[in-house]
This record gives sequence, structure tokens and C-alpha cells, in this order.
Amino acid sequence: MKTRVLSGIQPTGSPHIGNYLGALKNWAKIQYDYDSIYCIVDLHAITTYQDPKELRGKIEELAAVLLAIGIDPKHSALVVQSSVPEHAELAWMLTCVTPVGWLERMTQYKAKSAAQETIGDGLLQYPVLMAADILLYQAGIVPVGDDQTQHLELARDIAQRFNSLYGETFVMPATHLPSVGARIMGLDDPEKKMSKSTAGAGHAISLLDPPDAIRKKIMRSTTDSNPDVDFENAGAGVRNLLTIFQAFIEWPDEQLRSHFTGMRYGDLKKQVAEAVVSALAPIQERYRQITAERGYVAAVLDEGARRVSPLAKDTVNQVKQAMGLFTPPAPLSK
Ligand code: TRP
Repeated sequence: MKTRVLSGIQPTGSPHIGNYLGALKNWAKIQYDYDSIYCIVDLHAITTYQDPKELRGKIEELAAVLLAIGIDPKHSALVVQSSVPEHAELAWMLTCVTPVGWLERMTQYKAKSAAQETIGDGLLQYPVLMAADILLYQAGIVPVGDDQTQHLELARDIAQRFNSLYGETFVMPATHLPSVGARIMGLDDPEKKMSKSTAGAGHAISLLDPPDAIRKKIMRSTTDSNPDVDFENAGAGVRNLLTIFQAFIEWPDEQLRSHFTGMRYGDLKKQVAEAVVSALAPIQERYRQITAERGYVAAVLDEGARRVSPLAKDTVNQVKQAMGLFTPPAPLSK
């Protein structure tokens, strides 16, 4: 049996080149080697208020983008978290074995709650729900960015605690994987990771941005006061542009170095912009085809939920049995 891979992405903001180069490109690549489940985590998204109409649109847009970047429904299950009720159900059982202190220590919780006047309980529970996503499918490998490794550690701690209280129930997910993806920084502020939730027109390049918007954002990106590219002394902005170019074009280091050394920033930006525009063109074309086919995305998501549902039910039944709880009655036969 193939090892199971599981990962998740929130349907907030627009998926951007940082998401693509840091994670999604790799999701598409590894789906052939593993039994993969990719989850659009809408229950995580609502830990901060989401406009209902907008949220639905974002979920469908994200699903279409994931298909456009190469997630292949023949190989991967593409699942909307809320369409499989066992995510929330397992989260409750896990909540009951999780000390509040573990949750209050999470750096993401501390950062997000600091910005909030009243802190929703969901924000505190966020990593428990993430643990449920992982443990529900007994995933062995969980590709996540550096910012999620603390949550992944917590998922292991929760699984361990459950196993020691109620008997061996959960597979331990792998803790850390060497990060394969590139770490892309904000174009307006290259000290900060490119983020979906950071406002500002010049911050991120959405995978669906039209060519002119891409060019404009890159031409205006923050660099430094050197006159031209010098690999030894390049500031964060210039290094970020080079990283973006290399991640899309996949040149070896030496080629990158000899091509760009001494190039003026204006020309560097032009070349990076054209590389991004041409790399995104086929993705955008597939996105247009996918969304033009009425009902296609909805059918893929239904199929994904149907595929994983028996796995989810099986785990929840095991957990309930271990804890002495009841499972739903069999339907009445007619
Ligand atoms: N919290 C993750 C993030 O913001 C998304 C996520 C939710 C996730 N559930 C998951 C990632 C399960 C991996 C596995 O990136």
C-alpha cells in the first residue's frame, strides 16, 4: 500500500505564486507516488469571519486553481473539509484530550489573537482541527511550510496522548520533511513571507493575475540601492526576484549567476516578469477551460468526498469504540 499524504489549504484570499512554488507545485508532483488527499479547509477559514457568499466562491475558485496547477482527480482526492462531517466530529474528541496550555503556546494563535478584540474559541481550536484532518486519514506524510511545523508537532502530541489514554489508535504523522519548495517573500516587503492575508496591491502575485498586473507588480517591487545584480551583496528583494525566476525556470545556480550578474535591476525585473507571465499562461488557460465546463469542479469535489468518506467514518468509529461512545445506527431496511 502506498503511504498516504495529506495537506490542506485555506480558501481565503487568492492563491499566489508563493503558495504555488512553496507547496502546490510539489503537491502535484508527489501525487503519483503517494495516496494523496488534498483538503480545502473551509472550517479553518471560518475561525475568522468570512462573508458566506464570498467564501463559497473562494472555495470553488481554489478547487479550480488546484486542478489547473495539475492536481489530477484520477490520482488525488480533492476534498472540501466541510463536506466530510467527520473532520469536525473527530476534532471534538481530540479537543477533549488536549490541554489548553498546549494551544495557548502556539505562535500562530498568539499572533492572530493579538489582532482580535474578542478571540473566537475556533482560533484556539484551530490546530486541533488540523490534527483531526491528519489523523482522520492516518496520513504518514504531511507536507507543510515552516510556519505549520509547530501545528504538526502538536498533532503528534495529541495522537500520542490519545493513544496512551485509549490504546493504539492513530498512526504518527511524520514530523518534519526537508522543505522542497521555494520560500517566496512579499514583493512590497521582502522581509515578510508572501501571504494571502496581507493587503496591498503590490504584495503578492495571484496565479490568476493578468499579464499586465504581473508586470506592474514586479516592476514596482522593492529592491535595494545597489546599481545592478551582485550575488554576494544582493538585498532581500533582489534575492527574492532571483528565487522566483529560478523556481519557475529551474536553471542550475551557475547558470542563474552568470546570466544575471551585473544586470541592471530594471532588466532583471523585466526578465523575471516575462518568466512569471509565461509560466502562468498555461495554468490560466487550464483554469479557463476547467471553469468553462459547467458542473465539472462540483463533480470533482463530490467524487473526492465520496472517496475519502469511508476512511473518515472508519477512523471515527474506531475512536468512538476506543472511548466507549456510540456510533450511528444502521439505516432501517425498507
Ligand atoms: N493550517 C494549514 C495552513 O494554514 C492548513 C491546514 C489545515 C493543513 N489542515 C491541514 C495543512 C492538515 C496540512 C494538514 O497552511
